[in-house]
Formats: sequence, C-alpha cells, structure tokens
Amino acid sequence: MILIFNKLTKFFEDSILSYLKLNNKSEEFDKVRENILVASTKEEFGDFQSNVSLILSKICKKNPKVIASEILKLIRANDDITNMVEDLEIAGPGFINIKLKKNIFINELILNYKSERLNVPKIEKEKKIIIDFSSPNIAKEMHVGHLRSTIIGDSLAKIFEFRGFKVLRINHVGDWGTQFGMLISHLKDVYPDALKSTENINLGDLVEFYKSSKKRFDNDINFQEKARQEVINLQQGNAESISAWKLLCNQSRKEFNNIYNILNIKIEERGESFYNKYLKNIVQELESKNIIVEDQKAKCVFLEGMKNKEGKPLPLIIQKKDGGFNYATTDLAALKYRFNKAPNGDGAYRIIYVTDQGQSNHFSAVFQVAEKAQWIPKNCQVTHVPFGLVQGVDGKKLKTREGETIRLKDLLNESIKRAENDLKLRLEKENRKENKDFIENTSKIIGISAVKYADLSQNRITNYQFSFDKMLALNGNTAPYLLYTVVRIAGIKRKNNFKEDEINLDKILFNEIQEWRLIKKLLKFDEIIISAENELMPNRICNYLYEICQIFNRFYDQLSILKAEKNIKQSRLLLCYITEKTLKLSLNILGIETLERM
Ligand code: ARG
Repeated sequence: MILIFNKLTKFFEDSILSYLKLNNKSEEFDKVRENILVASTKEEFGDFQSNVSLILSKICKKNPKVIASEILKLIRANDDITNMVEDLEIAGPGFINIKLKKNIFINELILNYKSERLNVPKIEKEKKIIIDFSSPNIAKEMHVGHLRSTIIGDSLAKIFEFRGFKVLRINHVGDWGTQFGMLISHLKDVYPDALKSTENINLGDLVEFYKSSKKRFDNDINFQEKARQEVINLQQGNAESISAWKLLCNQSRKEFNNIYNILNIKIEERGESFYNKYLKNIVQELESKNIIVEDQKAKCVFLEGMKNKEGKPLPLIIQKKDGGFNYATTDLAALKYRFNKAPNGDGAYRIIYVTDQGQSNHFSAVFQVAEKAQWIPKNCQVTHVPFGLVQGVDGKKLKTREGETIRLKDLLNESIKRAENDLKLRLEKENRKENKDFIENTSKIIGISAVKYADLSQNRITNYQFSFDKMLALNGNTAPYLLYTVVRIAGIKRKNNFKEDEINLDKILFNEIQEWRLIKKLLKFDEIIISAENELMPNRICNYLYEICQIFNRFYDQLSILKAEKNIKQSRLLLCYITEKTLKLSLNILGIETLERM
C-alpha cells in the first residue's frame, strides 16, 4: 500500500501546509511533516489515521478538535483527496480517521496482480552489500548456531536481492589459526600416507579427528611442541604443511557443502586465510595512526566501554606477543578489503554480519577500531545481526538423547524422516496412493522448510526451542500450514483448469468482509518487505504469511468460489491468484520451496 499511502500523504501535506499558511506558521511545517498519516491500527478507525491536529494544537495554540474540523474543511475542498476518500471523521481528542474508496484498493490490487514482483519498488541505483554468514570452522562441527546463521543470512540475502541490491554472500570460514598445528601433526602421525597419495584420502569423521588431536595436544608435551612447530611451518608456506592444510579444508568443505545442498543455499567461500597477506599492513596502519598501544608486549587497542569483569579496561589484542594475529585482526583486514574498491577489494557499501549474540562485543570492538582507522568510508555501513540460542524443549542446550551435540546432517535428516512418516499416515487416512518420488520430494520439502521456517519465524534476538513436533504440525504458524494453503490454491486452479487470463479485470467486485480483509492484507506486501529489510527481521515476513493464510482460509471456508455467480467467481479467483503469488514470493524470499500437492 506504499503507493496509496504516499499519494494520500502528499495530498494531506498540501492541505496542512495551506492551513499553516492561513495561521502564519508555515515555517513550522517540518515539525508536522513526519507524522501526517499512519495506517489505522483497528478496522473501525478506517484505513488511515492522522493525529496532526494534536501536533498543530501546540503550534497554533488551539484546541485539537477545533483544528481537526478546520483542517477537514480544507481537505474536503481538495479534489485530489475527495477523489480518494469515502469517509472522513474526527474521533477522540481530535484524530482524523480516513476511509478510502474501494476502487482505490481494487486498482492497486490489479496493478500488483500484473506485476512480477507485486509492485515492490526496486532501489534506484544498484549497490553492493556483503552478507557474511554461516561461516563454520574447518575440522570442527558445524553446529546449530551456524545453522541459524545460514538460514537467517540466506533470507536476508534474498530480501536484499529482491530489492535490487547486488549481494555478495560470503562464507568467512575459520580456515586459519593455531589449531592447524595440532591437526596437521596429528594427520601426519595417523595417516602418514595422506600427503603422498594424489587422491584425497578420507579422514573419516573430522569431528572425531579434531577431538583426538585436541586430546593429544592437551596431554602430551612433545606433541604440543610438534604442533607449535607445524604452525610456524604452515605460516612460512612449507609445501607439505600447506597440502596437509588443504586436505583438511577440502574434507570439511565437502561436509559443509552437503549441508548447503540439502538446504539449497548458495554461498561463496572466502575463509580467514584469504586475508593473511593483509594482516601485517593492518597492524602497521593502526600503529601509524596511533591507535595501537603495547601492553605486556602485545599490540592492543583500548576502547571506550570495553571492560573486563573487574571493571578494568579490556584491550582488543591485534597482535599477540608471539607475533600471531587474532580473529579480530582478520576481521579488520576483511572489513577493509570489503569496502576497498576493486581490484584490491569488493567495493561494498554495506557489510552485514550474521552471528550469535555472543559475538556482539567482538563486532562492536572491530567496528570501533575500523571507525578510528577511517576504514568505513563515508555513506558506508557495518551492521552486526545477532541471534539467540537454539535450545531443546527443556530450555537447555540442544543435545541428542545420549547427551551428545547434534550433527546438523542428522538433524535435517530426522526432520525429513518425520515429515515422511506424517505424510504416509496422512496418505493412508485419505486413502491416497502416491509414488515413491512424490513421497520423497514432498517429505524433503516439508522437512527442510519446517526447520527453516521455525527458525525464521522467531524474533531472531530471542532464544528459541527446537521442537520437531511443533515445527512439523499442519496447524499453527508452521511451514506445513503455509505450504498447505499454497496447495489449496493450486487445487482450486486445477479444478478451474487454470483459466487465469479469462478474468475480466473491469468487472471485479467485492462485497464481503472476508474478501476485504484479505485484500487489505495482500496490499501490505510491499510495506512488510521493506520493514523486514530495514529492521533485518525476516520474522516480519513470517508473521505476515501466517496472517494471510489465516485470512485466506477463512475466506475459502466461508465463501463459495467456483460455484459463485460469474463475476463474483472471477473476482474471488483473482483473490486466490494474488494470494498464491504473494505466498510464493514471500516463501521464496525465506528460502522455502513450495508444492502443488502434498
Ligand atoms: N567462524 C566464526 C564462528 O564459527 C564465525 C565467523 C563470523 N564472521 C566473521 N567475519 N567474524 O563463530
């Protein structure tokens, strides 16, 4: 409804400006301008409301009700407004309630219907955004935290892509650091042939591999020494160490890619190691700008507000006393690179980082240092998008029955398996026979979308409880419920032989409240997308989808569609089609595939 809203606002501004002129107060216009109209919170208040009289009452020193009626006179004389408005009334202490003519909405609905993107505006000039998400660590478990980052990051990327941004989806994989010393030493001991063969040998379960090398590292001084030496070899570019490192990375990468494939998510890997060659310069530049101080031989930055538990200043360590660099150093190099113009950078105008809340302090420190060093160009922006924990139904950390950390692959497969069981039960009950492909494909889509949607539909800041039973239920704010609504509409289309172009758009008419509720909701699509974008909150879209489905299902259950009289039938079919389009487009933006039957 952005178009309608902007148009009406413009006309109201004209009348209000004339009012201020009449009162010799036109210089006060800017104070009023921001809040001229808002969408009504309740149906009985009409479509839009204005509390401008209350603000004007302070400026003109008059009773707001008197002002409201004086303004109404001007507004009623404004043809632009009277052409749009059906009813204007003064309510409460001087609010103006505005009800628009029905054809205003119908026209917009038809315009949306004709547009691929339901008329959601695109940004005028293409700009590049980097979304840094997923970002698991080599040889370590990709855990539920990474799953959240992957799902939320993908959806944010899709929102921005839909709005016309150029999005670079970056996987800032943890592929560098001292842990590779112990991993490579362990590799050489356990798989002495691994580096000789030309084929990549299978190291088995990498997480187990990590655990056993860590155990050795913690308990064996000789091994520790070897591991330390290995770090140095690796940093100096020793060929054998590098190929061991590559072997480990390749193996992890395969496992990560499995997960991205199941989730159908695209992301480009550019791990921490990519920025190695820039780290020295980062330190030098910070030194030359007098941002670094030496503290106990480490190179540090002290930042305002960063304190440890005892209230003492807590430095951000940029270079350790042994010369090694930190997670933060790499992030500074990455930030600078991403804002730099090509060929030595990405030329982004904004970077968005999606990680758990636990990293908020890290990012706030990195951003502060970057600010001081003037690495964030004018009109550019960095944003951390934090999220809460995934918990089990008991409110504790999510674990298997045996108390182990859950593997992502197992978790996704279990969701698919459960979706399949539910589906088979349903088919039996409904006496339906379906082939193997149908069952496989349907279960996969339901299982995966259930996990994605359960995550996205939460306010990301809060912790959420992971429950297969809840997320796979056919009722409630779940993916299966939304998918089922899409399927219902596909069913109507099949019954009607999908004669979409036969609809006579000049003869659209709506008289029922169920239709109007649906229309008004459908027209909010553009606002919802833009608010999800502005607040970086995909759950806005989820809530909206759920509301549409509830309103649509009421419309579907309470009014007849295919049996209605010709013009009414066509009008209602049109509503079905636009609902379908809105649902599909929104689900697509959430990274959720839809089904025609289920
Ligand atoms: N690898 C990190 C982790 O697993 C996440 C990296 C996030 N991105 C970044 N630029 N720091 O926690």
